[in-house]
Amino acid sequence: MATIKYDPQWVRDFYDAYGMQEWERFDRHPMLRIAFAIHQHYLRQYLQPGQHILEIGAGAGRFTQVLAEMGMRVTVADISPIQLALNRQQADTHGFASAVDQWVECDACDLRGQFADKAFDAVVAYGGLLSYVFDQAGLVLTELQRVVMPGGPIFLEVMSLWGAIHCYLPPVLSIDPAVNRQIVARGDLDRELAISTHYCHMYRAKEFRQLIEECGLTIEVMSASNALSTNWEEQLRTIHEDSPAWQHLLEMELEACREPGCLDMGTHLIAVCRRSTT
Ligand SMILES: C[S@@+](CC[C@H](N)C(=O)[O-])C[C@H]1O[C@@H](n2cnc3c(N)ncnc32)[C@H](O)[C@@H]1O
Repeated sequence: MATIKYDPQWVRDFYDAYGMQEWERFDRHPMLRIAFAIHQHYLRQYLQPGQHILEIGAGAGRFTQVLAEMGMRVTVADISPIQLALNRQQADTHGFASAVDQWVECDACDLRGQFADKAFDAVVAYGGLLSYVFDQAGLVLTELQRVVMPGGPIFLEVMSLWGAIHCYLPPVLSIDPAVNRQIVARGDLDRELAISTHYCHMYRAKEFRQLIEECGLTIEVMSASNALSTNWEEQLRTIHEDSPAWQHLLEMELEACREPGCLDMGTHLIAVCRRSTT
């Protein structure tokens, strides 16, 4: 579990500065298009049109748009005022603003003043929010359970320790091995290490599962994002232009990502969980 103290100001500043890159990230290369498809697959599997969704850590709104197109009513929440403003702007530009009930600036660690108990049918927290709150991840899960209806689904995502090393192996190997050993032992990328300006806690699949279960949630499904398609950059561009091959890859990728032996191989880990029915 993370040993670093959560720093909300850093997260706010980082995502304020990140700006529109957050909207554009899934279009950057084919591996991320596959990641986008994997995330959507679970939303479509577990949500019904007309449900009220809290999308927390919504960023500029790629999944807000997906939820709107699925017929949901969405409350968009984020700690970054710039990401919230971009979400509103993208909703106007792409015509999904009418699906949004409200845009709320808030911290997932402190939702008490914002949302009532059982206010939502489901909560979507895609995009690594739990990795940014370091030692407060348990508190966030308790809050997300409080605001969702009994039995309601909660969609979670974290950064993966082995998956990040797998994806970024050459730069990882250029780091002092003593530093890498510390990262592997703790999972924390923090400012003390001075190797990155992106701070987060990276999970192992078994650690993520343990956190979720200790907080009283049941896990419907856990998936890597991605597994087969990590590190095939150039070949994926060719495959992307070949529609049958691309569809076949997506089909195999969805199955592979759920295999226990593949869970730790994607840059991210997704879990669809449920609050207990009481
Ligand atoms: C990687 S982006 C994900 C955006 C979107 N959900 C997606 O998956 O494309 C992470 C977002 O979570 C927000 N965030 C991080 N920690 C948060 C917290 N404690 N409370 C609310 N939002 C938070 C950031 O501001 C950022 O917009």
